[in-house]
Amino acid sequence: MQAQKIAGALGAELHGIDLTQPITDEVFQFIHENLLEHEVIFFHNQNISPAQHKALAERFGILQTHPAYPTVEGFPMLSILESTAENPSKIEKWHHDMTFKPSPPLGSVLHAQQIPPYGGDTLFASMSVAFEALSDKMQQFLSGLTAIHDFAFGFKESLAEPGGQERLKQALLDNPPVEHPVIRTHPVTGKKGIFVNCLFTKEIKGMKPAESYALLDFLYEHCIQPEFTCRFHWQQYSLAFWDNRITQHKPVNDYFPHYRCMQRITIEGDRPL
Ligand code: SIN
Repeated sequence: MQAQKIAGALGAELHGIDLTQPITDEVFQFIHENLLEHEVIFFHNQNISPAQHKALAERFGILQTHPAYPTVEGFPMLSILESTAENPSKIEKWHHDMTFKPSPPLGSVLHAQQIPPYGGDTLFASMSVAFEALSDKMQQFLSGLTAIHDFAFGFKESLAEPGGQERLKQALLDNPPVEHPVIRTHPVTGKKGIFVNCLFTKEIKGMKPAESYALLDFLYEHCIQPEFTCRFHWQQYSLAFWDNRITQHKPVNDYFPHYRCMQRITIEGDRPL
């Protein structure tokens, strides 16, 4: 088994692993260590079934369900992220997954089912590298702040669609706004990372709206500098596994009218501290 870095800040491709086979302790440990070190890891040519996808994710923790996405029959934890010409993907902003939850995912395991003939890459950004690039003064200032994350804010376009309020009624009731620290400490590596994202973070607690917008805008711009990112080009049956505690990601929606279909499992994480 080997890991090959694909960029300076984060990201490595893992070779010599067949995920259609049972995950031995040795393979699990190799995957886990590389996830912690590189923050996002990639595999190619893994024609796994939903059960094998679930078995991989389950080695890392409790599996979550998503309140808004359709799922694979018989696998409620396996969300289908599908994009067609008639109904193009609405996921286009940089984000950590599901920070509207009190315990957002530790990580997400995304498997490519159908890939367009061009485009549809996913960008990832290291929030630990972005944090380290800030001045000591800014790091200290941000470390005392709390942000509010909100499902309704993240899904406002879906809620505004005809029937959207009705479709997402239960999801809204189940997911009231939550608070997270603006800078979180990774529970395993101890690395600090910026933990706000433009999809789900509504505001900084205790700030005036203009102050909150200005600070969040600064952070969103800061976090996605090319030097803090990597870009993954998908093939059919590629798989990406990102540490959601310390990275953000963004799919590039540049392939319409072609079709793209992915399946994703998120693994429950700790309460951010
Ligand atoms: C996601 O945001 O979780 C999906 C990313 C992708 O489809 O590339």
